[in-house]
Amino acid sequence: MAKRIDPWGSQAFKDYEKLLKDFGIKPFKPVLKRIPDPHLLMRRGVIFGHRDFERVANTIKKKKEFVMMTGLMPSGKFHIGHKMLADQITYYQGLGAKIFLCVADIEAYNIRKTSMGELRKTAIEEYLTNYIALGLKPKNCDFYFQSERCSDGKQASAYYRLAGMISRKTTMNEMKAIYGELTPGKIMSVMIQVADILHPQLPEFGGPKPVVVPVGVDQDPHLRLTRDLAARSQSESNFILPSSTYHEFMPGLKGGKMSSSDPYSYIALTDDAKTVKEKIIKHAFSGGGGSIKEHREKGGNPDVDVSYKMLYMMFEPDDKKIKKIHNEYRSGKLLTGELKHMTIERINDFLEKHKKKREKAKGMVDKFLK
Ligand code: TRP
Repeated sequence: MAKRIDPWGSQAFKDYEKLLKDFGIKPFKPVLKRIPDPHLLMRRGVIFGHRDFERVANTIKKKKEFVMMTGLMPSGKFHIGHKMLADQITYYQGLGAKIFLCVADIEAYNIRKTSMGELRKTAIEEYLTNYIALGLKPKNCDFYFQSERCSDGKQASAYYRLAGMISRKTTMNEMKAIYGELTPGKIMSVMIQVADILHPQLPEFGGPKPVVVPVGVDQDPHLRLTRDLAARSQSESNFILPSSTYHEFMPGLKGGKMSSSDPYSYIALTDDAKTVKEKIIKHAFSGGGGSIKEHREKGGNPDVDVSYKMLYMMFEPDDKKIKKIHNEYRSGKLLTGELKHMTIERINDFLEKHKKKREKAKGMVDKFLK
């Protein structure tokens, strides 16, 4: 992969180890033991990297105040890849974090060229509704749109002031080194994302405190820049450098990226049982042998098998059971067809319950939109 991460590109990340080395992200495993009740994605190494997470782990341990802030680009159907972040958000909310959830509508408007109306609809009907169904609570949750942010009811927006003022701390050359080719829209979006990440620490939002930003690794360029700009602003504001964690992406069904623009790459949270079955059977990449005979003899490769990965990353929370599945697939005892059916059953079980929760969630959306 290139020596540059493009947050707006469509590359699928493969070699996560190399990312740690190339960009100075710390491996997550060593901080694991400092977290009182680590999330499944942490335990299993799906969250593989971090910057300064020690600070957040200490804050959690001491039960002190902290913020979890992250954002979403509303782009089409909400799928199980998006669920990974939702699960982390509700995990931090459960630990008592104040949640800042940003709808990056200015970014999407500039980069994806969708209309503001369409973006708002997708953000609410797909993202927010599913977040609520997945357990997001209105208490301690500040859900906002980039285009509408103001300072808790005061007229002037401290957030936009921050985006404007902090842009003085960087140069075109630095931005080009991080992002490559720039457009005015990208520059705007970057400065606003810097404000997204830092504004929970403005006096208007309660002052400096530890902030953790859980994201996919494609967002790391923004975190590197934000941390540098926060360090350069110390004389004016006492921002604590934001912490971050990085999770692997849920692989697309065919391998590659799970992407809202290709329905056969994802399982949507609105897919029906028949669709899920068809998608997994026909499209999910298998690490199994070419024939039953070959599979029995040589075994399968769970590490590249998309059905296995989906169980590992999300749908089989029991550590003992997942280990058994891994070993039996590896040895050839468990066949691809059996693994796929197990995956279909788990996903459809989840989706059936989720459907009811989503119906209920629709009535709660207004509680999040002041
Ligand atoms: N750029 C992010 C994305 O493409 C969305 C985003 C906007 C964000 N502001 C943020 C993510 C702040 C984390 C923190 O998905």
